[in-house]
Amino acid sequence: MKIFLVGMGVITTQINLFLTNAGHSIVSQSGMFTETTIQEGKFDGIVVVGPVADVGPNDMVKAAEAGKQMFLVSDGSDPIYAWAASARIKIFPYPPSPADLENLDKEIKSMETQPPDSAEQYRNRVLGSKASAQLTDISSIRRKIVITSPKGGTGKTTVAVNAALLLAFCGIKTFLVDADANVGSMIYHLRIADQETNSSLTSLLKKRAARLESGSSQPDPHGLQNIVSADEFLRSFTPYQDIPALNIVPGVSEKDLNSKFLENDLAADEVMKGLFDAGTSANGVVLMDVGINPSNTVHRAALRNADAIAVVIKAEIPDIAHTRHWIGLMIDALAKLPGWSEKQAREHILSRINICYNMVSSSGWESSHNVLQKALGADLKASNLVLTVNGFLPIVPPNIADTAVNSATARDLYVWRFMQLKEEELAGFVGSLVGFVSNFMPIRVAAAQMGFIKSSGQKKPPRRGLFSRK
Ligand SMILES: Nc1ncnc2c1ncn2[C@@H]1O[C@H](COP(=O)(O)OP(=O)(O)OP(=O)(O)O)[C@@H](O)[C@H]1O
Ligand SMILES: [Mg+2]
Repeated sequence: MKIFLVGMGVITTQINLFLTNAGHSIVSQSGMFTETTIQEGKFDGIVVVGPVADVGPNDMVKAAEAGKQMFLVSDGSDPIYAWAASARIKIFPYPPSPADLENLDKEIKSMETQPPDSAEQYRNRVLGSKASAQLTDISSIRRKIVITSPKGGTGKTTVAVNAALLLAFCGIKTFLVDADANVGSMIYHLRIADQETNSSLTSLLKKRAARLESGSSQPDPHGLQNIVSADEFLRSFTPYQDIPALNIVPGVSEKDLNSKFLENDLAADEVMKGLFDAGTSANGVVLMDVGINPSNTVHRAALRNADAIAVVIKAEIPDIAHTRHWIGLMIDALAKLPGWSEKQAREHILSRINICYNMVSSSGWESSHNVLQKALGADLKASNLVLTVNGFLPIVPPNIADTAVNSATARDLYVWRFMQLKEEELAGFVGSLVGFVSNFMPIRVAAAQMGFIKSSGQKKPPRRGLFSRK
């Protein structure tokens, strides 16, 4: 493992020699450890020699946020001892005996061969036990989420990427899929190169379609194929740099746009279901950024396998008028599938929709919302549903919005930037996003702890579901 050794003096030097002889690579030894070190350093783990190191719990939390492994050598007198104990960091006695050094070496090696669950580790270290306990109990929550919209450019990708960052920073294992078959822009938002990833949606669809066409998919009465597939799908996600709980699958690239395999319904269904199931069986949440055309094979497959459909729209009359027609298209798309009735399709869609108004700039949304509610009145009544709003995301000032997608770093994305700088201009967007995401996941405690929202004694109960049963 590449190690940053924090500490001064003879004992630290002895530890350095021992670890080097044991085959580890000490990339740096320094008495101090700062946030810049974390951002610039190419290392996987940190060994802190507590009594002779100038480092506090906040520095360690920053390192945990970046997914670094940590080990502490301590006599209990240093400022990070108590934090390390509660965050379940391995602690070794100071000064270490030869046996203690052997144990330290063993522990570092075992972290390499059997890496621990990074999301769980992150929760313990960054959020502590209270938020961690709340987050692990997510059995009743909606974890297969599609983010879509009736028109382009309403902010689907912005909402998908920022919601994924938020969830991951709150310690929830998050799987983000660019499922926009009209060529999505997730990789640009996240500033990643396609070739750095384990797999893309295109390659998954291509492989499945080829397998189906060659007839090599046999009936599988014992479900063995499913188990193999779940593992395969999980491995097709790529861990995202610097955020331990975030994993991604990039989308369809321009050169594949008109490929035949993108129209294979069965392949699309297997892949979308497979990705959803892989993420949720790893106890995570899966977010899919889905394009605007519900009859597209890939989009339809995502919609039919989702348990929540976030619809991002602008609160403007023309968009809203189109929304009703488009909800009808979503229903039609599913009703055409073999084995689906019109009624089932309607129930499936209407009970899963969560509307999120984006780029809200004034209180004008209310009249727009009434238009939508009236337009959908008959459909909603037939399904015994009422329409409420699940999210309003304010418009972000143009300079910040520009930087978020055009600068060299993903750290300028709204949620990431706010986490670092706590700028007032972003507090509204991030706070509202916490509210919207709370419709799916109980993240308020963790979000308050991370400083995304102010913790207040009197919290409104979270609203559950946009379309709630009467
Ligand atoms: N709340 C907001 N405030 C300011 N700008 C925003 C906001 N939400 C999104 N934007 C900007 O609007 C543009 C469109 O956003 P985005 O790409 O997320 O939309 P989309 O629905 O995914 O588009 P497409 O249909 O092309 O996939 C981007 O430039 C984005 O930065
Ligand atoms: Mg998009």
